Amino acid sequence: MKLDTILVLDFGGQYCHLIARRVREFSVYSEVVDHDISPEEIADLKEKLNIRGLILSGGPTSVYDVGAPKLDKRIMEIDLPLLGICYGHQLVALLSGGEVKRARKKEYGTSRAIVDKPVGVLRGLGSEETVWMSHGDDVITIPDSYEILAHTDNSPNAAFGHKFKPIYGLQWHPEVAHTKNGMLMLRNFVFEICGCEANWKTEDFVERSIQEMRQAIGKSRAIIGASGGIDSSVTAVLAARAIGKDLTAVFVDHGFMREREPESVAAALKKLGVNLTVVHASEPFLKKLKGVRDPEAKRRIIGEEFIRTFERVAKRVHAEYFLQGTIYPDRIESGIRKHSDKIKTHHNVAGLPAKMKFRGIVEPVRDLYKDEVRKVAESLGMPKDMVWRQPFPGPGLAVRVMGQVTRDKLSIVRAADKIVTEEVEREGLGRDLWQYFAVLTDTKSTGVKGDSRAYGYTVAVRAVDSREAMTATFSRISYEVLERISTRITNEVPRVVRVVYDVTHKPPATIEWE
Ligand code: XMP
Repeated sequence: MKLDTILVLDFGGQYCHLIARRVREFSVYSEVVDHDISPEEIADLKEKLNIRGLILSGGPTSVYDVGAPKLDKRIMEIDLPLLGICYGHQLVALLSGGEVKRARKKEYGTSRAIVDKPVGVLRGLGSEETVWMSHGDDVITIPDSYEILAHTDNSPNAAFGHKFKPIYGLQWHPEVAHTKNGMLMLRNFVFEICGCEANWKTEDFVERSIQEMRQAIGKSRAIIGASGGIDSSVTAVLAARAIGKDLTAVFVDHGFMREREPESVAAALKKLGVNLTVVHASEPFLKKLKGVRDPEAKRRIIGEEFIRTFERVAKRVHAEYFLQGTIYPDRIESGIRKHSDKIKTHHNVAGLPAKMKFRGIVEPVRDLYKDEVRKVAESLGMPKDMVWRQPFPGPGLAVRVMGQVTRDKLSIVRAADKIVTEEVEREGLGRDLWQYFAVLTDTKSTGVKGDSRAYGYTVAVRAVDSREAMTATFSRISYEVLERISTRITNEVPRVVRVVYDVTHKPPATIEWE
């Protein structure tokens, strides 16, 4: 069955992905594509997806800027409903023969929109609406074939619709929560105008992805590197349901995991029916790191050792397919979106397929956002601590021990980290914070323990708020919680005499210390 789909054309606006996520909240599938997609490429996509409508996103530029992202004019002629938002709204006006000019006054924040005609996307709205805007250009005139649906003090054509075709423009952002009835506007577009059916459901996804994996892998064997993270865990559980024992999930315990993590990950995956091989490799990993202080060198050595360990198992089980827990944002960050300027280095097992010869790579959760992966995980019966696990770097605690990594230092950071986790969770903050953890710095300092001078380690506590880890702000954890953390660490972890809290945002600091 082909999914009813709304394509979101990305003009570089910061809320572009939010539009797709909102549409998906209605259980309708949505994909973000580049703004310069051609009608022919849209026709190709129709082989896989039942495309019911297009949304043009906002963008950071003015339609008149040099190099401003353009829309293939022929898209306006395709027989599909179209909704332009902000920059998209201005493009629709411009390409249809309207006039767009620099606004007298930039509009930023909430505004009062007067609804002149509550039809189409504005059906069911009141005569006045609170909307959220951010624009420097205005649509001054619209062609005769269009009619004004709403205006604000500054924007005479804040919302318009074509008189005969399902084409609409909104100067404001319906996808942003500050637009009070934004979801109703999007709902009107998706269901009333595009006629979509709500057929993007978690249960259907699970069934469909299992069928697709069976088809792709056939009677061959497949392998996956399971890190304990949510993406690879969901991939492993789906694959186990698809091909059973023909899947081997490999969990490499490099010795840099947190307290009791290897045991609990292994137990959870096994319980979920995953054929799991645990490789205990802390000895060789530590040996390879001996005397190494440079963070990048540490990462490289761990990455290489991981690949070698993984290769050995893949060879032993004759795996022909390689499974990866790539999710939708990963694909975007690694360049399916040509105009994306934020490219994150992939640290974990990416690069592996290039070095090893597999017949194919299978990525069952490649179209999902993180919150959708979590929903799937819940529907698969995965335990809560796995579903809500905070991001954890592939090289683990090795990049949270500054400088040289030793067994001794690992045990200190592990014990401190356990206390941070316990206290944050005791306060019920676990789900609010993006990450929270302890770092063992390379700085020793003086303290007093009992009646005597103690010269010992300094532990740094890091807790951040973030949406996708590209940027982050340090969390304003209360002094009471910080005090409990510091008291417990200095009391319970031998040789730590000082605890400091990291109050640096990203940028300029990264989330991890190394
Ligand atoms: P930074 O430190 O670059 O981290 O601000 C951004 C996010 O990525 C996580 N991180 C990693 N994740 N392998 C991973 O899978 C890695 O090597 C790695 N290094 C950092 C980090 O925890 C944060 O969430």
